[in-house]
Amino acid sequence: MSNLIVANWKSHKTPATALEWCKAFRPTIPPHTQVVVAPSFPLLPVIADNLAAGVSLGAQDVSSFPLGSYTGATAAQQLASANVSHVIIGHSERRRYFHETHQDVAAKLEQVVANNLIPILCMDEEYILDQAEALHSQKVPNLVVAYEPLAAIGTGNNVSVDQVSRVIDTVKQVYGDVPVIYGGSVDERSVHEYLLVSDGVLVGTASLDAQQFAKVVEAST
Ligand code: PGA
Repeated sequence: MSNLIVANWKSHKTPATALEWCKAFRPTIPPHTQVVVAPSFPLLPVIADNLAAGVSLGAQDVSSFPLGSYTGATAAQQLASANVSHVIIGHSERRRYFHETHQDVAAKLEQVVANNLIPILCMDEEYILDQAEALHSQKVPNLVVAYEPLAAIGTGNNVSVDQVSRVIDTVKQVYGDVPVIYGGSVDERSVHEYLLVSDGVLVGTASLDAQQFAKVVEAST
């Protein structure tokens, strides 16, 4: 099985600093490793034009509506036409600061699926079941689940590999045998051990510097 390594830049960078990052990011990607870079929406074109070969483009969010009169929203169809392949949905920062509900997340997932994009559905342990119920057993081809323990995000307090392994088992019991990745203070030193029990990692802080993220990718074996 291959490893999925996702850079989540959150609301960092401008087109100029994103371009510098792209020029500096020239990793040797290990076999069976897929790398995705997910910038903010305005940075998508500059990243699409300047990413290293073999690296895919992701988005950090998507509208729960299709194309139409929804001011401020970015539809899945627009992401697909901007060469995005993966979409992060339901990140804890979206749930916490933008009050996204399990239902909102389910609606976003539906849009992503309808546009043949690959959803990376984020969740913490306590709502694994509630989120699944909100999906109403919606068929989700290519689903990737990201286990994101809130206390580990952006804090340097990454959780133990044993905990990741245990929660991944629970996710697979509920969502079926889907790839499950881990996110929460992963860096070039910890990535290898997480990949022993997961199908990939979601990397925030350690993806902001091109050289550091290249080290994370190169340690992804
Ligand atoms: P972090 O962010 O690597 O800075 O903890 C991870 C995430 O938000 O997915």
